[in-house]
Formats: sequence, structure tokens, C-alpha cells
Amino acid sequence: MKATARAQTNIALIKYWGKRDEELILPTNNSLSLTLDGFYTTTTVEFREDLTRDLFYLNNQCVSGIPYNRVNQFLDIIRQKAGKHVFAEVRSTNQVPTAAGFASSASGFAALAAAGSKAIGLTLDDEELSRLTRRGSGSACRSIYGGFAEWQKGELSDGSDSFAVPIKPQDYWDIRVAAVVLHADMKKVSSRVGMKRTVDTSPFFKGWVDSIPHDLEQIKAGISERDFEKVGSVAEANCLKMHATTLGANPPFTYWYDTTFKVMQHVQMLREKGIPAYFTIDAGPNVKVLYLPENEVEIKRELESIPGVTDVILSKAGQGISYL
Ligand code: DP6
Repeated sequence: MKATARAQTNIALIKYWGKRDEELILPTNNSLSLTLDGFYTTTTVEFREDLTRDLFYLNNQCVSGIPYNRVNQFLDIIRQKAGKHVFAEVRSTNQVPTAAGFASSASGFAALAAAGSKAIGLTLDDEELSRLTRRGSGSACRSIYGGFAEWQKGELSDGSDSFAVPIKPQDYWDIRVAAVVLHADMKKVSSRVGMKRTVDTSPFFKGWVDSIPHDLEQIKAGISERDFEKVGSVAEANCLKMHATTLGANPPFTYWYDTTFKVMQHVQMLREKGIPAYFTIDAGPNVKVLYLPENEVEIKRELESIPGVTDVILSKAGQGISYL
């Protein structure tokens, strides 16, 4: 009744932004991501008859309370699926520097789903595992796979057709991502709260959803042609559109900080100098920059030179779920 799994985080190039069902975590649009090797979570789950509640250790510290209720709720889903009523000890270690602005929820829930389902005796294929992982955190369902993955939003109200599928494996294309960490003390609107406010109040939300099929078609063509400029420019434009929806929300909000702008402008300036680089931004102020290996040294140096940037962490394409 014990298993250990590792999952790497992913960065969305076509963003998931908006839910049609909050309980089942069903999205309003397909999304597409690249799994990254630099940031991962390793989780051991042990179901034990002697426990009277779930125990959760994060980076060797026993944690409980509201921020971690999502873990208990997710274990309930696993128990229900297996038809077993037994509590678990969960031990998770994050190699995702929280400051890097990568939601550890993507690698966290993917590792928890993999270790938890195995520990309780479920045998799930990738599709079933992705569908289960989705219930913990939407973006996590893409981290089942290495390389490029697409989360198909599905149409059905029970969510049975909403899961991620692999697009290209980890070794298909050496495309890299620099996580640019900023000094920012802005109060954060979580992605869950931010996307709900956008769906409920932003008049720009419809435009966002309507634009997705074209963006997806373009980026998939770019990936199959290994056309970096096409992939980068579609990803950058898609990110800008997602962030534009937040400005139309009520009350309006933005994840950007002054340094966020500086990094965006710097990336555009690098392109003018002939260095291909494109940015994308999730629900926070930090910026992720897509680049090619031959430009790595210059990209790192340039990004580190921007005032307000505190760290630049480089990553390659990562692998899918592994069991240790
Ligand atoms: C901006 O997966 O964190 O990073 O499903 O509510 O847990 P929940 O949201 P989450 O949202 C991620 C939003 C995003 C875009 C993306 O990763 O696709």
C-alpha cells in the first residue's frame, strides 16, 4: 500500500484560463504545454489501516489547514475510485523553487495522483491518470507526459472526455525555457480565483475562448515543423490575450509588475537584435522565456542584466511521470 512517483511541472504555451465546471475542473478551452526538467515533485503515499486521518508532509514538515485541504479532497477521490476507506501518509518534496513562479500544484498533483493511485492498488493508463490528476489541479493533467502535451477540454458534463494527450515526446526538440524571477511583493490573486472572476465578469472572456482553436492549430503546425518563431510568436500572443482578459474583469486585476514589463520589452528587443526569444507568463509576475540552446549564454546574461530580476533558472524539456 505504498508507492513513490515523480512528476515535472509544465509551462503552458496555449493557456488554460476558465472553467465550465469548478467541481470537476472542466475547462472552457484546450491548452498545450511543454513539460520542464528543472522543476519537479517527488511524492510517497502510504495507505495505512492504523491512521485516523490523512497526514501530509511537505518538504519534511507536517502541514495541515486550509491551504492543504485540496490534498485531502484529492485523496478522497482516489479512495472513492478504489472503494477503500483508509487514510494515507503523504510525503512530498518539491524541487520547484516557489520563488520561480512555477505553480508547484502542477507537479504536485501529478505526483500525488500517480503515487496515490498506485499505492491504493488502482491500475490506470495515462489517459485515466490524466483524468484523475485533473481533479486536483487542471494544469497538472498535462504533466503526466514529457515533452509537448495537449489537454483536450472535452464536451461531456461528467468530464470523462477531458484529459491530456501526448503531442511530441521529451527528446523531439531541444527547446528551452528560462524562468525569470523578479523581486515583487504584489499580493497574488490565485489562478483559481483569477480565472473564475474572469469567466464571471470579463467581457473579453468570449474573445479569448473564440481565439483558441486558431492559436492551437498554428502552434501545432509550428511544433510539427520545428518552427521556433512560429511556436514562440503564437505562445507569446496567446499569453498576452489571456492576461488582457483580467483587465476587463470586475474588479479588474493584473499579474504584471513593473519588472514584468521590463522583461517583456527586453525579450522583444532581443528579437530585434536577431536573437529568437519569446515570453510567456502564468498567473503571477514572473516571466518564462523560450529560447534555443545556441543562444543560452547570451539569453541568461541579458535576462540577468535587467534591473529587478533576482534570478534566471534554465530548464530543458522534461519527462513524464516516473515511479521510483
Ligand atoms: C495561468 O491549474 O493552477 O497557469 O485548475 O484551478 O488548480 P486550477 O488552476 P491551475 O491554473 C493554471 C493557469 C495557468 C495557465 C496554464 O497552466 O495553462
